[in-house]
Amino acid sequence: MKALLLCGGEGTRLRPFTHTRPKQLFPLANKAILFYILEYLASSPIREVVMITGTTGAQIRAAVGNGEKWGLHITYVEQPQPLGLAHTVLLAEEALGAEAFMMYLGDNLLEEPLSDIVQAFSRNYAAGRLDELVLVHEVKNPSQFGVAEIREDRVIKVIEKPEAPSSNLALAGIYFFSPEIYNSVRKISPSARGELEITDAIQDLINRGQTVGYRRLKGWWKDTGSPEELLSAQKLLLRQEKKEIRGELFRSHITGRIQLGANSIVENSRLKGPVCIGADCRIKDAVLGPFLSVGDRVEIDRAEVKKSILLPGCRVENLSLTDSILGERSRASAPRPASPEAPGFPHRLLLGDDSSVELQAKRAQKAGYD
Ligand code: TTP
Repeated sequence: MKALLLCGGEGTRLRPFTHTRPKQLFPLANKAILFYILEYLASSPIREVVMITGTTGAQIRAAVGNGEKWGLHITYVEQPQPLGLAHTVLLAEEALGAEAFMMYLGDNLLEEPLSDIVQAFSRNYAAGRLDELVLVHEVKNPSQFGVAEIREDRVIKVIEKPEAPSSNLALAGIYFFSPEIYNSVRKISPSARGELEITDAIQDLINRGQTVGYRRLKGWWKDTGSPEELLSAQKLLLRQEKKEIRGELFRSHITGRIQLGANSIVENSRLKGPVCIGADCRIKDAVLGPFLSVGDRVEIDRAEVKKSILLPGCRVENLSLTDSILGERSRASAPRPASPEAPGFPHRLLLGDDSSVELQAKRAQKAGYD
């Protein structure tokens, strides 16, 4: 079976980081989201991937190539404008051929082994028990998702972001479609936001008598579309990391699982895992972690940082940070305190690539970003 992997889109909710990179290449625990997805696809029987790319296609192609690194064969289809998830299906029709396929949103991560899911669809599809399959996950806030209304073993209705949801089953970003999907996408019209919605296409399949089955996902599922979701997805990924110390530690104390990359030096610091630090970093007089990733060539001096993502080449000085994302080569600092007292409440920052900010010590805790 082929996979249609969606890596277009604008990623507006992840600005400023998506001004300079596609969101699919954003690193979590120092590895691009898309690389986790390609490893995940490669762990299943799927070998052929049709990848949709938009305006950032050149960056994605440069990072991924023809997929042989993952044992996959990737072909690319360009989507000049992000006209919706269902729009990509029509663009890929020729590349996918007249067979059932899996559609995977390039910013979704999940725990359950993909082989189990693919086999469950293939078995039931071959036996004629279903025509399409959606994956659902129980959520507390269904009105922020596409929601599936179910009866027995099939989906009877799908609604995008309903005000009064009829179930708590959100549609996860993985779908299995029969070739009937092409006819459905041809029939639907753009929604109020100007996109061809995949939920409208699925509803059309149901209306035309197709059997749309559902499967409850086991384990966690993350849609990494916003900064908060990136941080919470990274938390889950860091829990799976193994301990590996390749750099050097001087007068420092570590607890929990720590990764320290080659040529990185940590001095007079405390690291509370899980923390993942890349190569060529300089860390001094710091308290780091838990749930922190530090990219290559980062410098941290007299700082406390936890639950954050520091991208390569950034620098943090005299600051306390939490739930923050610092872009590549960015600088966040405060004037050096007169006495080495506690650095105040932690700041929450989202700082784009190459940006620089100087803050004062924070004296009060506030909700939201600074
Ligand atoms: P979304 O998160 O729905 O859209 P987006 O990436 O444009 O982000 P935002 O809402 O913040 O602007 O997209 C889910 C996945 O599908 C993501 O990997 C991008 C991809 N996609 C396409 O390939 N083409 C499209 O037309 C759209 C809307 C999304």
